[in-house]
Amino acid sequence: MRRWLVTGGVGFIGHHLTRALLARGDSVTVLDDFSDAPYPTRLKRRHAEVLSREHAGRLDVVEGCVTSRETAARLTAGTTGVIHLAGLAGVRPSFADPARYSVVNIEGTATLLDAAQRAGTPLFVFASSSSVYGNATPLPAGEDAPAIVPESPYAASKRAAELVVSAMIRKTPEMRCPLLRFFTVYGPWQRPEMAITSFLRDVMAGRPITVFGDGSMRRDFTHVDDIVRGILAAADVAPAGVRAYNLGSGAPVTLSELVTAMGRAAGRPIQVERAPVPLGDVEATFADISRARSELGWQPRIALDEGLATVVSWLASERTASATS
Ligand SMILES: NC(=O)c1ccc[n+]([C@@H]2O[C@H](COP(=O)([O-])OP(=O)(O)OC[C@H]3O[C@@H](n4cnc5c(N)ncnc54)[C@H](O)[C@@H]3O)[C@@H](O)[C@H]2O)c1
Repeated sequence: MRRWLVTGGVGFIGHHLTRALLARGDSVTVLDDFSDAPYPTRLKRRHAEVLSREHAGRLDVVEGCVTSRETAARLTAGTTGVIHLAGLAGVRPSFADPARYSVVNIEGTATLLDAAQRAGTPLFVFASSSSVYGNATPLPAGEDAPAIVPESPYAASKRAAELVVSAMIRKTPEMRCPLLRFFTVYGPWQRPEMAITSFLRDVMAGRPITVFGDGSMRRDFTHVDDIVRGILAAADVAPAGVRAYNLGSGAPVTLSELVTAMGRAAGRPIQVERAPVPLGDVEATFADISRARSELGWQPRIALDEGLATVVSWLASERTASATS
């Protein structure tokens, strides 16, 4: 039986991935600190409870920090692979605590990879981000771009972690180590502070939404089910050594187009208020996904309208559940 260590496995992307691994019969150890940032611990507890209920026996959830060497050594031993999703996410909050972002995202990654190397683990998957491309990379962004002008401490921490991983792998060149650059991931149980979930919550409650800038910023939104399939594909077929892959839709939309699509999905008119673009937000993200297509046999399947419908029906079921409880 395949046995995975999934860090951040009760977070948004992590719990979807953990469910997919358990559903195919694998066993999973989750390492997560259930931190209260950038969104409440209770949502992570809920994910852990639901997963434990659904898959008792093949899931072990360990509460701990990715920077603990002892924990990393104990949990990496004997695993099929480490899928390292834990980290402090979010561009804007990274300006409030850049030191903590650096510790968790860089030191935490080095600690886990070091433990995996010592344990002889053949695979280490790292969750990186489209934010590494900043504003200086020609679009669509390709994986070989230098990505050396990050716009936020978060972006810098992800790029730094990628570079640390690239250097460390020289010691174990046979190890497979895909660096997966996710492009704005959305879907049911998305982090509550992120665009789409926060917008649709407001829309469904009849409140106006706040859009940053004039609506021309572009984002490459990617459904979480596509991201999970991409992680599984990379875990299965990524080659030896370090290799970066963009996991994005490859079809960016402007925020104005997103608002129109959300109105269609929610079946309601949307009232928009405007605010200045926050520090660290890039002008556009746009993935070149040809490498993931050709080398991983992956491509996104869920178009924006279909994906938004999954968020609307999840939020509607949440509203019904809270109204009846
Ligand atoms: N969601 C996106 O759009 C997106 C885009 C690009 C990259 N990513 C990256 O993907 C990963 C997962 O993102 P997500 O959206 O699911 O975020 P998330 O915050 O829901 O998940 C991250 C998980 O890591 C855990 N964690 C944080 N610090 C930890 C620590 N010190 N020790 C152990 N666990 C810790 C959190 O409790 C959380 O459960 C992150 O690394 C994020 O940077 C996400």
